[in-house]
Amino acid sequence: MNAFSESDTAGGSTMTALPGKSPVKLTINGESTTVEVAPWTTLLDLLREYLDLTGTKKGCDHGQCGSCTVLVDGKRVNSCLTLAIMKDGSEITTIEGLTGKDGALHPMQQAFVDCDAFQCGYCTPGQICSAVGMIKEGHAHSDDEIREGMSGNLCRCGAYPHILNAIKQAYAATEKRTAA
Ligand code: FES
Ligand code: FES
Repeated sequence: MNAFSESDTAGGSTMTALPGKSPVKLTINGESTTVEVAPWTTLLDLLREYLDLTGTKKGCDHGQCGSCTVLVDGKRVNSCLTLAIMKDGSEITTIEGLTGKDGALHPMQQAFVDCDAFQCGYCTPGQICSAVGMIKEGHAHSDDEIREGMSGNLCRCGAYPHILNAIKQAYAATEKRTAA
C-alpha cells in the first residue's frame, strides 16, 4: 500500500489519501533551492506561490498564451503546463534572473524598453524569456522567422510590431557580441 492507494473505510465510507509532497531540487536564477511540493504543482505555481517570483505571469493556465514562459536548461517552456517534479535537477531562469546581479538589464530587456515593446506589460516577461530562448535556438534570422518563433506568445495589447523591433535589436546586439 502506498500513498496513492491508502484507504480508510472507517465509518462505512471509503477515503483515498492524496499523495504527499515530494522534494524538488532546482537551480533557480543561479541559486540552488529545494521545495516540497505536491505532485500536481506546476512549475508556474512553484515559482509564483512558493518562491514569490511573480514576474512570471499566469494568463490562460492552459498553454495557449505564453505569458508563463521561462527557460528550463536554456530552453523555453510554458511553465503552466510543466509539473515541477518533472524538472527535478533542472536550471530555471525567470525574468528576474535575466537581470544581472548589478541590476543591469539583459540586452533583450533593454531592447523592449528602447523599442517601447509593451503596453500593459502582462505578456512581457513571457515575451522576453521566449525571445531569449528563440535566439538560442537560432531562429531569429528574419522577420518571418521571428514572427513564427514567437507565435506562441500572445499580446492582447497588440504590441507585436514593437516586440518584433525589440527582438531584432537584441539579436543584432547578440550577433555583434559574437563577432567581436
Ligand atoms: S499561462 Fe501558460 S500558456 Fe498561458
Ligand atoms: S503588453 Fe499588454 S498583453 Fe502584451
